[in-house]
Amino acid sequence: MDAVRWQGNTLYLLDQTKLPVTEEWLAYTDYRKVAHAITTMVVRGAPAIGVSAAYAYCLAALEGADLDEAKAVLAASRPTAVNLFWALDRMARKAAACGGDPAALVEEAVAIHREDVAMCKAMGAHGAQVVPDHARILTHCNAGALATGGYGTALGVIRAAHEQGKVDMVYADETRPLLQGARLTAYELVADHIPTTLIADNMAASLMAKGQIDMVVVGCDRMAANGDFANKIGTYSVAVNAHFHGVPFYTALPCSTIDLSLADGSGIPIEQRAKDEVRTLGGVQTAPAQVEVYNPSFDVTPHSLLTGIITEKGVIYPPFRENLARLFG
Ligand code: MRU
Repeated sequence: MDAVRWQGNTLYLLDQTKLPVTEEWLAYTDYRKVAHAITTMVVRGAPAIGVSAAYAYCLAALEGADLDEAKAVLAASRPTAVNLFWALDRMARKAAACGGDPAALVEEAVAIHREDVAMCKAMGAHGAQVVPDHARILTHCNAGALATGGYGTALGVIRAAHEQGKVDMVYADETRPLLQGARLTAYELVADHIPTTLIADNMAASLMAKGQIDMVVVGCDRMAANGDFANKIGTYSVAVNAHFHGVPFYTALPCSTIDLSLADGSGIPIEQRAKDEVRTLGGVQTAPAQVEVYNPSFDVTPHSLLTGIITEKGVIYPPFRENLARLFG
């Protein structure tokens, strides 16, 4: 399964706002429209946003646009996932080295895409080692093939563990307000015949209290140098619940999601989204139109609640600041 394709100098995105009901691929030749697709979450998930922005940068080069301006427009599409800025910086470095040659830029974007899939597979192999036999695993939001170049980070770990026969059940939080767990994670896992149970977000603690969750694995949008990390809103409460019940809690991420310029999670920019995402469900109004709404798209989980960090280079344990620094050393 994948959600981002490059063919004949055109970017194709699987419209994730329509899943799981409709599978529709949209074609892009204008980088500005890709920026809009990132903002409106046609494509979403930290690594998939980075890969799409790299291809959008190529579209800008192909149309002879000002590459600095294109970079600024794309960088303004969503603020939290650092992979977006990481991919754009890498593309800008390549543009400086190749004089903006579109063919060389396409090669670089394809390399970013391929490397992302390879990193997911490596994360899967490392992460599967911490999954116990007969595991019942909880995940939040969608950190799967749809959220990456392919295969997934948290769902990559689950896929690899499932291939080894270790997974008895995956519990997928539905993930209000935009239902990435229900619409996307359940869709991916059911397609792969991985045993899956969908739960509303407020049901996880009750399953943990009954001893029915053996571990939690989630994705990550940006990790600070000390291991504090931003992920989909609700991740923090899952981490608190896991800590209270003694359930191991992991995040899986490629090194491109680590932002060493931030000492801790307090500096991670958190995107605020439209109020109607909370006042409605599937386009149907579920609250008074005038009610005030708080709608941050992400929250920050402190590193003290993490059992380990699963990366393409291996699983990292505390002390996280020192051990993360060593990854880049
Ligand atoms: O708002 P979204 O759907 O882009 O949020 C996605 C997440 O929070 C994912 O867990 C994260 O990007 C990691 S994806 C491998």
